Amino acid sequence: MERIIIYGSQYGSTQRYAKRLSQQTGIPAVNYKETPELSDVKTIIYLGGLYAGGVLGLAKTLRKISTEKVQKLILVTVGLADPEEQENKDNIRASLQRQISPELFGRTKIFHLRGGIDYQKLSFGHRTMMKLLYQSLHRRPWETQTAENRAFMETYGKQVDFTDFGALEPIVQEIHRGTI
Ligand SMILES: Cc1cc2nc3c(=O)[nH]c(=O)nc-3n(C[C@H](O)[C@H](O)[C@H](O)COP(=O)(O)O)c2cc1C
Repeated sequence: MERIIIYGSQYGSTQRYAKRLSQQTGIPAVNYKETPELSDVKTIIYLGGLYAGGVLGLAKTLRKISTEKVQKLILVTVGLADPEEQENKDNIRASLQRQISPELFGRTKIFHLRGGIDYQKLSFGHRTMMKLLYQSLHRRPWETQTAENRAFMETYGKQVDFTDFGALEPIVQEIHRGTI
């Protein structure tokens, strides 16, 4: 197997994107917790939910692969923050750069998708984290908040879903580019 889609998803948005991408490309999609042997894999398409800036399951997956053999990493983050905002994109990229070795980062294509959140479905730990974050941000003036924090505060406690399967198109194109 030369190409594989691997995903890290806690509440399902990233899994839905990964399964749709798999249907569109014919590349198998697996949960990062169930990744098979990856020694022959040349292209990894990794989709991961963003959790406090980190990509769910990415570190664990990268530990399993040999950086020299993987020719290309297509990395797709799924988060709440709007990736159309340059500031959000810059923050995510800076954080990714800390999670991937410089060698592999040079062979990495990055994409950002938007997921969703349903506060009623969050685990106790996640709900507590979000509450503490909300309480600390709430005290600061709105004008001084980053775009990411504003989006977080606007959606706090609600159920929102920004999933847009159409946003997979540039990723499908990038995957096909590698096969021509
Ligand atoms: C504890 C927690 C931390 C989060 N941190 C971020 C974040 O740093 N940036 C972001 O854009 N979204 C963040 N989110 C939102 C998730 O990335 C979003 O809900 C995404 O759709 C989750 O993917 P999943 O449903 O596949 O698990 C966070 C959500 C939770 C519950």
